[in-house]
Amino acid sequence: MKAPAPLRLGIAGLGTVGVGVLRIVAAQAETLALRTGRAIEVSAVSARSRGKDRGIDLTPYAWEDDPVALARRNDVDLFVELMGGSDGPAKAATEAALAAGKPVVTANKAMLALHGQALAELAEANDAPLRFEAAVAGGIPCVKALTEGLAGNAITRVSGVMNGTCNYILTRMEASGLPYAEVFKEADALGYLEADPTLDVGGIDAGHKLALLAAIAFGTQVDFEGVQLQGIERVSIDDIHRARDMGYRIKLLGEARRTPAGVEQSMRPTLVPAESPLGQLEGGTNMVVFEGDAVGQIVMRGAGAGEGPTASAVMADVADIARGLRIPPFGQPAATLAPPRRANAATHCAHYIRLNLRDEPGAMAKVATALGLAGISIDRMRQYDHAGDDAPVLIVTHPCAPSDMAGALDQVTATGVVHGEPVALQIQTP
Ligand code: NAP
Ligand code: HSE
Repeated sequence: MKAPAPLRLGIAGLGTVGVGVLRIVAAQAETLALRTGRAIEVSAVSARSRGKDRGIDLTPYAWEDDPVALARRNDVDLFVELMGGSDGPAKAATEAALAAGKPVVTANKAMLALHGQALAELAEANDAPLRFEAAVAGGIPCVKALTEGLAGNAITRVSGVMNGTCNYILTRMEASGLPYAEVFKEADALGYLEADPTLDVGGIDAGHKLALLAAIAFGTQVDFEGVQLQGIERVSIDDIHRARDMGYRIKLLGEARRTPAGVEQSMRPTLVPAESPLGQLEGGTNMVVFEGDAVGQIVMRGAGAGEGPTASAVMADVADIARGLRIPPFGQPAATLAPPRRANAATHCAHYIRLNLRDEPGAMAKVATALGLAGISIDRMRQYDHAGDDAPVLIVTHPCAPSDMAGALDQVTATGVVHGEPVALQIQTP
């Protein structure tokens, strides 16, 4: 029997991930051919500067300066987009490949979070697969788990830590006792931060990833604008240590839930129990948690970034395309994805409140009364030793609506017995 023709890749972007993909294609050629039934080859590549030393021999591959031209080449069967950027050449070349009926594999969460619906429609109109395993949580095969392994479930919640840089910063602050600004500088020196660091520390990168998973999980059009975003820039070393003292760790936690009012999506610093799987997550590691009506809870943990892990995820998509697997980009036809129906974060949750209380008779009673009048009940409370006039106080509340907490903090401040702004953080709902 005649062997099937090789699958010929065109790779645009030869940075961390692109070079990783070239290495895997070369190192695993035999295994990939056995696993997919087809040889996988690279015919052409593209990047910004041709002369750059990338630590890898590029002479076997044709070179294109223009990624759109690369996508249209006759010797490219599958276009691999690894340049990044929500618009510009990444989007233009992806559209060119899809319009030509060619499959596309990308790691570009920014592009998909903003243009996912239009790209999925273009892909399906041209009968061309569009796959993005590497766009969410690096090496963790969570897109595949959701679209395939959990296809028989109504997914009720998607949560997790999806930005390794933020988890590195938060865990390093805790271990070193250094403030945010110092650890941010360390992360920068280690090359962990995106070119625009706000994407990491502002929660945007993780918000992109959450929006992609939520779309697949709930059968809705991807709705990044609907993610309530708060970054880690204002998390203080005090909060990290006090939270730990109360049995919690602070994580940049993403949560998407289906509720009767619509889909709630948030990415914000949140307290999680220190002994839980999320609480034990160290450094740049990611964790994605799915909850399905039939399966219960599924926890996936692994490297969320880096050459090997991200290229591993790209190759999973390439292998699926080589095998002939056809799954719509968001798990069901783009035309059937429901328009976004946003729900404000109304799910009740416990809160952590830190405040500096004037050390005078009746001060604590005034705070407790203000919270009580706002309908917020105290679960636990701790006052710390102090040398000056202000007593550091921590309060853990019973679950309440996040909107009630915002009003309650105004009332607490209005008592006049608190110095500075009280800090409130949500505690993850079990
Ligand atoms: P990177 O190291 O910055 O590499 C980007 C590559 O794209 C470079 O080779 C660059 O060329 C090329 N490029 C940029 N603009 C171009 C243009 N206008 N025309 C042609 N080539 C262009 O990025 P990366 O870390 O590999 O990330 C690539 C993608 O994977 C991004 O979407 C990123 O979000 C995603 N991703 C990355 C990771 C990770 O751990 N790095 C994890 C998950 C997802 P030059 O080299 O010549 O400058
Ligand atoms: N900047 C991302 C992170 C890696 O720190 O997790 C790319 O997704």
